Amino acid sequence: MADLFESLRLGGTVSLKNRIVMAPMTRTRTSEGDVPNMLMATYYGQRSTAGLIVAEATDVAPSSKGYALTPGIHTEDQKRDWRLVTDEVHRKKGTIFLQLWHVGRMAHPSLMPDGEDGGKGRVGSFCPRRARQVGIHARGYTQAASNGGSIGLGRDLLAGLR
Ligand SMILES: Cc1cc2nc3c(=O)[nH]c(=O)nc-3n(C[C@H](O)[C@H](O)[C@H](O)COP(=O)(O)O)c2cc1C
Repeated sequence: MADLFESLRLGGTVSLKNRIVMAPMTRTRTSEGDVPNMLMATYYGQRSTAGLIVAEATDVAPSSKGYALTPGIHTEDQKRDWRLVTDEVHRKKGTIFLQLWHVGRMAHPSLMPDGEDGGKGRVGSFCPRRARQVGIHARGYTQAASNGGSIGLGRDLLAGLR
């Protein structure tokens, strides 16, 4: 039986130093503009002894947002500040994937750029819209993956999407 601490070649392309994988966990710690920050870089850096970190669910587009204080990877600022995280993890010889997501019909109007309010308090419930925009969302994923590829997430993220 394989040892938990044995290395692994994932999908034939990504070398993991051990078989411990950290599950994605939303931490709601982003800064203004849904950008990653040093708090997140420290958090993921501390966990880089895992063979693989799957970083928290990350919005592929403004319309994908369902929760306050979660990161995105669709603006230039977000791309730039994910580097704080990836640089820190790579400095510690860790491997990190990013979990791309779109909450679909759950996307709440109060969190949309042109929504009523981006506040942190309780917001009223709403009636989910029909999911008519699958093609648009698919393009959002492609763009987000490409954004990840253009920063430190590249090696890991793109390999993970193969
Ligand atoms: C605080 C918290 C945040 C989480 N955020 C995510 C997330 O962003 N994406 C996801 O796929 N799962 C998320 N999860 C689910 C965890 O990945 C899940 O709990 C983990 O895989 C362990 O599975 P288990 O809870 O069934 O034991 C979250 C769980 C917790 C406790």
